[in-house]
Amino acid sequence: MEAQQQRQLSSARSLLQIRWAATGWNKAIKSFLVQLVRYLTNNVIAHVPSAGARHQWYRHVNGVEIGAGSLVMLGAYLYVGVGRRRGQPSITIGKHTIINRQCWLDGRGGLRIGDNVSISPGVWLLTDEHDMNDPFFAERLGPIEVGDYAWLGSRAMVLPGVKIGKGAVVAAGAVVTKDVGPYQVVGGVPARPLGTRSTDLRYEIHFRPTLE
Ligand SMILES: CC(C)(COP(=O)(O)OP(=O)(O)OC[C@H]1O[C@@H](n2cnc3c(N)ncnc32)[C@H](O)[C@@H]1OP(=O)(O)O)[C@@H](O)C(=O)NCCC(=O)NCCS
Repeated sequence: MEAQQQRQLSSARSLLQIRWAATGWNKAIKSFLVQLVRYLTNNVIAHVPSAGARHQWYRHVNGVEIGAGSLVMLGAYLYVGVGRRRGQPSITIGKHTIINRQCWLDGRGGLRIGDNVSISPGVWLLTDEHDMNDPFFAERLGPIEVGDYAWLGSRAMVLPGVKIGKGAVVAAGAVVTKDVGPYQVVGGVPARPLGTRSTDLRYEIHFRPTLE
């Protein structure tokens, strides 16, 4: 009886080991595929001179939402995986919004960009960082929201968890560490208020240069 119990126990153990090994392999393969897709997204697709083709990939492979009339220009780096995250797009871009050349869009913590937003060349939107005082350097996610009609100047950087209000302007080269109110103009490092902008904004952005 005892011998039979031991045999059952050892076969249960080997089954568990096989399952554990299979789970390990599954995780490794999944992680490799995500990295392969990210490599292709940012090193191949981002340089294809057809906005339509790039958008198809971003939408259907990376699960990014891109509204009608919007454009993600050449050379963007999208920190995204495959498909949606827990049913939600990691990056949402509204209608008639321009993401200019060489921008860095971080979808890890969730990024929402509104309608008629102008993001100038080289802007970085970061939604992930580390807790520098955590003994294990823990990851900290903070979603970014950019309101309708906002304009982010060239090479501005927005840190995790920041909300940029409707119609706000971020001057070129600013590092935005705190929320920016609607129609506020900020600039500098760290960004400080510089003034306000007109609240009468009626434009709709239409920008689709050939081969960009
Ligand atoms: C924010 C911006 C629109 C302000 O333009 P403006 O209304 O003409 O402002 P001014 O040049 O009169 O400057 C107003 C004040 O803001 C300061 N300021 C302007 N731009 C700044 C910047 N990038 N960083 C820090 N301070 C800035 C000025 O020094 C000035 O300060 P002062 O009153 O103490 O002298 C402009 O400076 C900017 O950054 N444009 C972005 C350009 C760009 O990225 N183009 C690409 C388009 S796709």
